[in-house]
Amino acid sequence: MCGIIGYIGKNCEKVLLTGLKRLEYRGYDSAGMTVSRDGEFVTYKEVGEVKNLEKIVSLSEDFGYGIAHTRWATHGSISLENTHPHFSANGSVALVHNGIIENFEELKNDLLAKSIRFYGQTDSEVVAKMFDKLNINSLRYVLKRLVGSYALVLLSKDGEQLYFAKNRSPLYVARGEDCVMIASDPSCFVDFADSYFELEDGDYGKISLKNDVFYNKNDEKIEKMPKKIDFNFLSEDKSGYEHYMIKEIYQSRLVLESLIERYQTTNLKAKLEEIKHLEFDRIYLVGCGTAYHAGLVGQSYLNERFNIDTFCDIASELPNKNYNIDSHSLCIFISQSGETADTISALKFCKERDAHIVALTNVEYSTIAHLADINLPIFAGQEKSVASTKAYFAQCVTIYILSCFLQGKDYVEPLKIFKNHIDFGDDNELKKLAKVVARYDKVFFIGRGKDYITSQEVSLKLKEITYIFSTAVASGELKHGSLSLVDDKFLTVVISSDKEQFAKTLSNAYEIKSRGGKLLLITSLFVDSDVRGNFDYVLEVPKTENDLLPMQIILPLQKLAYFTACERGNNPDKPRNLAKSVTVE
Ligand code: M6R
Repeated sequence: MCGIIGYIGKNCEKVLLTGLKRLEYRGYDSAGMTVSRDGEFVTYKEVGEVKNLEKIVSLSEDFGYGIAHTRWATHGSISLENTHPHFSANGSVALVHNGIIENFEELKNDLLAKSIRFYGQTDSEVVAKMFDKLNINSLRYVLKRLVGSYALVLLSKDGEQLYFAKNRSPLYVARGEDCVMIASDPSCFVDFADSYFELEDGDYGKISLKNDVFYNKNDEKIEKMPKKIDFNFLSEDKSGYEHYMIKEIYQSRLVLESLIERYQTTNLKAKLEEIKHLEFDRIYLVGCGTAYHAGLVGQSYLNERFNIDTFCDIASELPNKNYNIDSHSLCIFISQSGETADTISALKFCKERDAHIVALTNVEYSTIAHLADINLPIFAGQEKSVASTKAYFAQCVTIYILSCFLQGKDYVEPLKIFKNHIDFGDDNELKKLAKVVARYDKVFFIGRGKDYITSQEVSLKLKEITYIFSTAVASGELKHGSLSLVDDKFLTVVISSDKEQFAKTLSNAYEIKSRGGKLLLITSLFVDSDVRGNFDYVLEVPKTENDLLPMQIILPLQKLAYFTACERGNNPDKPRNLAKSVTVE
C-alpha cells in the first residue's frame, strides 16, 4: 500500500511532511524522506506515524529535491531497515515505492549473485538495488524487468529531476510557481495547484523545474492534459471533535442533505436514466469490508423490487465464483476510496467479460471511477478515519436512490423525512454501554435479514477499532455450530428491528442465555418489560421508515463502537495493522 511523494522546490522538508500527513491514510507503520542539496543526500526515517518523523527532521527553507514515503508493511517487518527511501548499492540513487513487485525474489537472487548487499526484506529495496545510475534508459531497463504493481519516484544525488513510473498504483503530477510535485494522491497539491496530470499504467518519465517528460507503455513521448480538482472535498481539521471518526459519524446528516440535493440535478438524473436503459438481466454488487456490507444493503433493496437475480460478493472472491458475468450483467462496484486493489481487480475481471460497469465512489478522480462506464458519486466528503462511517451511510443511501429510480419510486420525500428525524442516539447511554462492551473479549452480533447485515457492519467496526474479537452470526445459524463458543464471558448483541422476525430472534437469544451468555438487545421495536427482563442490557434505537432502517440503526451503533474504542484507550482513527486505502491484493 503506502503513500509516496516527490517534490522539487523551496521548503522541501516541510512540504514533504505536509504531503505525507495527507497520505497517511495509505499506511502509518513507518515514514521516511531523502532530500538532495548540493549533490548530497540527507535521509530521515522513523517507525510509526509521520508525527514521529516530523520530530527528527531539520527544516530548511532552501531549494531542494526530495522524496518521501509513508509505509503500510507488506514485505518485511515494521523497522527502520524496511522504511523507505531505499538506495542503490553505490548510494547515488534513492527510491520510494508503492505497490508489490511480484518477481522480487528472482530479481533479488540475481543481485545477490553479484554480491549486492541488502539491509531489509522489502521488495522495494530490490528495485533500488537494480540501479547504479539514474537516467531514462536505466529506468526503462529496470521497468522492463519488473512484474507487479508500482508507483515509483526516484532521485539521484546529482540530478535536477525526479524520475517516476506507474503501473497499477496511483500517481499524479502537479506544477506550481517554482515547484513541481508528484504524489499518490492529488490532495497533496492543495496548497499550490488547482490542476494536475494523471498518469496511466505503463507511463514513466521525469519531472524537473523546467519541464515534464512523459512516456507511455509503448515508449512513445506523450503530452498530458491537466485536470481540474475540487479541493473543497478535503477536510483537514477535526472541527473541535476529539477524533475524525466521531466528526464523520455526525457528518452523515450533511451527507444526506447533499445526496438529496445532488441526486435531483439533471446531470445525476441523466446518469441514473442511463443505467435504467442498459440491457441487463443480472445485477452484481461488489466491494470489500464496509463497502461490501453496503452492497448487501443494496442487494436487499434490489431483490425486494425486481424480478432480476441480484448477487453481492466480496471483491477478492468474485473471480473465484463461476458467476455468469457477460454483456447482460450490470456490475456495481462500491468503494469509498476508489483505489481498493481487490475491487479494481474484480472490476477489470467483469470489464473483460463485457459487463456494464457502474461505480459508487467517494473520490471522483479515483481509479475505479475512471474505469467505470458510469460513476455515481456518494458525496460523503473526505473520510479520514480508517473506520468507514459516513461513507457507509452514503453508499447505502446512494444505492437506495438507485433502486428507487430503477423502480420509478420517489426517493426524495422519504429521504427528506429521514433527514428531519435522523437520530444519532444518546451519548450518555451509549457511553455507559461502551463501558460494558469494553469489558468483554468476545462478542457475537446476531440478527436476521437486514439486521444481519447491520450486525456484520457493526461487528466489523467494533473489531477494527477496539481489537475485541467479534463476529456476526445470522441468528438462525447459531445453533448450527457457533453456539458452542458461548459461555459467561461471551457478550451477544442482538439486533432486532423487524417485527415479523422478532419472535424467532428472541428464541435464539434465549438459547444463548440458557448457556450463560450475556445479552444486549438493540431494538427499534416496542419491547415489554417481561422480554426486557431477559436481557442484561437493552438499547432502544430510533425508528424510521422500514427501507431506511439500516441507515438509521447504524448511526448509534457506529458511536457505540467509537466510545468502546475510546474506553479501551485506542485511537479509533488509526487502528493498528490497518490503512484507510488498501491498494494491495
Ligand atoms: O475504499 P473502500 O471502500 O474500497 O475500502 C474498502 C474497505 O477496505 C473498507 O471499507 C474497510 O473495511 C473499512 N476500514 C471498514 O471500516
